[in-house]
Amino acid sequence: MSTTHDHIGHQWLADRLHDWPDGTGPMYLRLAGALERLLHAGEVADGARLPAERQLAGALRVSRTTVAAAYEVLEDRRLVARRHGSGTYVEGVAPPPPAPPRESVLLRSLERNEIFDGLLDPPRELLDLRAAALHHSDPLPEDVLAAAVADLRAAGAGHGYVPAGLHDLRAEVAARYATLGLPTGPEEVLITSGAQQAIGLITMLHLRADDTVVTETLTHTGAIDLFTAAGAHITDVDVGPEGVDVDAVIGRLADRPRLVYLIPSIHNPTGSVMPARNRRRLAAALAEHPDVIAISDDTLADTWWARRPPPPLASYPGADHVLHLGSMSKLMWPGLRIGWVRGPAPEIRRLARLKAMADLGTSVPSQLIALRLLRQDPAFEDDRRELLARRGHHLAEALAAQLPTWTFDVPEGGLCLWVRLPDGNSARELAISAARHGVALAPGSIQSPSGAYADHIRLPTGHPEPILDQAVRRLTAAWQARHPAGPTTVLDDLRVVV
Ligand SMILES: Cc1ncc(COP(=O)(O)O)c(C=O)c1O
Repeated sequence: MSTTHDHIGHQWLADRLHDWPDGTGPMYLRLAGALERLLHAGEVADGARLPAERQLAGALRVSRTTVAAAYEVLEDRRLVARRHGSGTYVEGVAPPPPAPPRESVLLRSLERNEIFDGLLDPPRELLDLRAAALHHSDPLPEDVLAAAVADLRAAGAGHGYVPAGLHDLRAEVAARYATLGLPTGPEEVLITSGAQQAIGLITMLHLRADDTVVTETLTHTGAIDLFTAAGAHITDVDVGPEGVDVDAVIGRLADRPRLVYLIPSIHNPTGSVMPARNRRRLAAALAEHPDVIAISDDTLADTWWARRPPPPLASYPGADHVLHLGSMSKLMWPGLRIGWVRGPAPEIRRLARLKAMADLGTSVPSQLIALRLLRQDPAFEDDRRELLARRGHHLAEALAAQLPTWTFDVPEGGLCLWVRLPDGNSARELAISAARHGVALAPGSIQSPSGAYADHIRLPTGHPEPILDQAVRRLTAAWQARHPAGPTTVLDDLRVVV
């Protein structure tokens, strides 16, 4: 049903909002969620004026500030415009365009990710600053490899198909969760080919076309690709220095999304961490929505620089159904292609069946190497974290010295700096200039489901210091080519081996 109203009566609206208080979270967010659903249902035409705050408050028996706050949320979501002195008008809810054909949805999602393009066709001439990985001279130490080869010999015969993963590796990963305050058995862990496959399997199992997924406004490009390729709609929520805006996520839960995907422990790309108190609140809210699939992507959780993030979400009351993802890629080596999902045993079993269908299991030699790496002395991981932190701070200092108008927060950890260009300068234009100066960059907007953050870039910190210095010199030259008024720097040798 579609009804057009120039002026929406407060009683008419209150009647249609009769079940708005259902759900959890602050009143104003529940009201905003109910109003948003009504607008999306096409019951109110673009351009119509919403009732005055005081009148709607009277009809709903709430305070005027609740209505004002709900209208503000709608304004932030760009669904209404508030014109001073004249009221609040609906805008931006034109009926959805007809769905594009399935193939074009898939192609669009395959083509938008410039970070993956860089992996498929690594540029020979350019210093590639698109993927964020640790460049380690010794990613897999000799003794670890030798021990893994011996393990392989000892494992002897057997067909080597282990779709759920080697029992010992599942048990080792489970034991790590236990030390983080989340008791876990091997049957609650599935070994995957990187965390990327874990997101893919969960998507395959749970997402259908037109489902809604909640993510942060900035998130892992590979997750955007998978959700989009499945035909899901992404609705995003702000992420700041304390991770995602938990109130906003709780508000969105009332809309019954199919899946919530968050990166609470060293967020990609901002490097922020969700504090314990927010984890506790989010866990309590998730408890009331057990049908919503919740993913905590902790791929970067072990890359903290100074402080370990708080315990995993599932260790807080109510959130034991949360699916946690982990990976060997960031602290060890992406080439291993070892990641995992931790979750309730029945869900892990379903995902393992899918994994068998997808690839019959991850390489056994890789799993044996991963097991050896995880069993190293803790100092081994501490050394790598120290290396990451040193390089991260090095890049931060070099940027501050050479490009002081570029701004960023020093992250809690991870493998990149999330940098804002001054005065709304376009990161895409900078990327074009950077390519002429020997650097491949991906504009930050590809990490935003809505294509926002056009003035941001993600700069990887995982290279050795001399390469980071070279990168900053080239970026400075690229920036100066676009802003000749700045101080001059001499460009170094353009030939680089990455
Ligand atoms: C948040 C996040 N999730 C998943 C991945 C993919 O990791 P993997 O190499 O384990 O597949 C990445 C890689 O950048 C990531 O940043």
